[in-house]
Amino acid sequence: MGTTTSRTTTSAAEFVPQGADLAALRRAADGCRGCRLYEPATQTVFGAGPADARLVLVGEQPGDVEDRQGEPFVGPAGRLLDKALDEADLAREGVYLTNAVKHFKFVPAERGKRRIHKSPSRGEVVACLPWLHAELGQVRPDLVVCLGATAAKAVLGAAVKVTERRGQVERVDDYDVIATVHPSAVLRAPDRDEAYQAFLADLRVVRAHLGE
Ligand code: URA
Ligand code: SF4
Repeated sequence: MGTTTSRTTTSAAEFVPQGADLAALRRAADGCRGCRLYEPATQTVFGAGPADARLVLVGEQPGDVEDRQGEPFVGPAGRLLDKALDEADLAREGVYLTNAVKHFKFVPAERGKRRIHKSPSRGEVVACLPWLHAELGQVRPDLVVCLGATAAKAVLGAAVKVTERRGQVERVDDYDVIATVHPSAVLRAPDRDEAYQAFLADLRVVRAHLGE
């Protein structure tokens, strides 16, 4: 009882302005200190896309390229995602793209200056969630697509297994949600073509769900 620890509160909540539009949220997120990940990272990488998007895609966290450029999905995973969106007849321009965690988490490479991606902890994902909730509250999409386990756990709960749930539309709170793999996982897959086709099949479910 009453033990005090050195643990400080880790949450973005106090940095999120209530009722703010996307532009104001983005500006506020620049100054987020909701967890330790802002310290070594270059900048906050907030979501990007139209406020009236019918579709929100949620990745894990910015990568090395995104950290430098300040925009989501502009590196190798983003290129694969663009191609797949295009093939599934989903225009990237109409999609709001964001990440579960808004800062790049990495470890330095043993030599050279390349930085190695490190998955965020559950605590970091939970700390950053107020930003995602605020984005969803502003965009109010018809469908949320979780790209990979980190996004799926952030949106659908920690117990979710993407391999069991992928490609199925589920109702969570006010949203229809579908989980699929992360485009980086497609790039790393032993059979890349097969993994890509399966990813594309999930995006075609997304396309069909949106209709017209
Ligand atoms: N991977 C992600 O999950 N998000 C990005 O923005 C880039 C790579
Ligand atoms: Fe804030 Fe999220 Fe960055 Fe942590 S990762 S400092 S919660 S924006």
